[in-house]
Amino acid sequence: MYIKDVYLEEKKADLEKKGFLDLAVDPALDLFVEIEKLKKEKNAIVLAHYYQEPDIQDVADYIGDSLGLAQQAEKTSADIIVFAGVHFMAETAKILNPHKKVLLPDLKAGCSLADSAPPDLFRKFKEQHPNHTVVSYINCSAGIKALSDIICTSSNAEKIVESVPKDQKIIFAPDKNLGAYLVKKTGRDMVLWNGACMVHEIFSLEKITRLKMQHPNAKLIAHPECEEPILRIADYIGSTTGLLKFTQRDSAAEYIVATETGILHQMQKESPGKTFIPAPPDNNCACNDCPHMKLNTLEKLYLCMKYELPEIHMDEQLRLAARKPIERMLEISARFGL
Ligand code: 13P
Ligand code: SF4
Repeated sequence: MYIKDVYLEEKKADLEKKGFLDLAVDPALDLFVEIEKLKKEKNAIVLAHYYQEPDIQDVADYIGDSLGLAQQAEKTSADIIVFAGVHFMAETAKILNPHKKVLLPDLKAGCSLADSAPPDLFRKFKEQHPNHTVVSYINCSAGIKALSDIICTSSNAEKIVESVPKDQKIIFAPDKNLGAYLVKKTGRDMVLWNGACMVHEIFSLEKITRLKMQHPNAKLIAHPECEEPILRIADYIGSTTGLLKFTQRDSAAEYIVATETGILHQMQKESPGKTFIPAPPDNNCACNDCPHMKLNTLEKLYLCMKYELPEIHMDEQLRLAARKPIERMLEISARFGL
């Protein structure tokens, strides 16, 4: 059982006592107004990832990629951080802010990529590759972070890998697609953990190729968690913030977007005259939602702020061990102005 499940079980009784689980939100309430009121009343900040539903993005104080969100979490003076994202993101905020209350609207909002690397198996993997520096993608549990030398995100991964001395061997975990992309970009020979994101590994090359033929002037932009055949035909590859900024500065009128569809909300807001087409996955759906990210709703966000639950709790020793590689990442990022 994961820590979060144990925590959920423990808190369930408490939540039920407060009527939280059965509570239906009064449909007459304007949740945008109520959430703003709660923010002020409780000195709370809402940090949201681009993959959250549009209403949550619209009510957030800051919307960003994983690096931007970690940086905001580190510098906020709010007493309560409400994390509209997934568990590893809220956990990172708690690692950086042990004395603040960190809330996640749905504690079950996990991540298939983070779950692909259980710490006990990863410890054995490390033992099989001694004398390697461990660079881990932020999409992992605190247990993996504690076993890592340095953390990276999709927006700083290249710089982080390049910061490791050239003669030093590297393990990269848990995303094999981002890892393979970094091997290509940096020329470093890295040992890759075999993990992947369930959203980014199912884009259909065939359907995207067909879309490109139907929209010959559209540019394909892709997140580096996508598989190599998709990245090979992409016009631009970057983190969610990188993709958004590219669409703002680039002159094309149409884009095929190979990442989770939540980002289209900001793209459309920033460039209302442009067309954004979600890249289709290899199933019967037209677009590609992350089921974990989409567990959070505006109603759950409101309830979580009102009752200050569910809250992220962490073992202090684990937190301290996981903090070191995150701090190294933040230091290097600041050095490069990222
Ligand atoms: P970034 O927003 O940091 O690019 O990460 C994407 C992602 O998959 C988050 O879960
Ligand atoms: Fe995890 Fe992929 Fe969802 Fe991001 S999009 S939270 S990496 S499963």
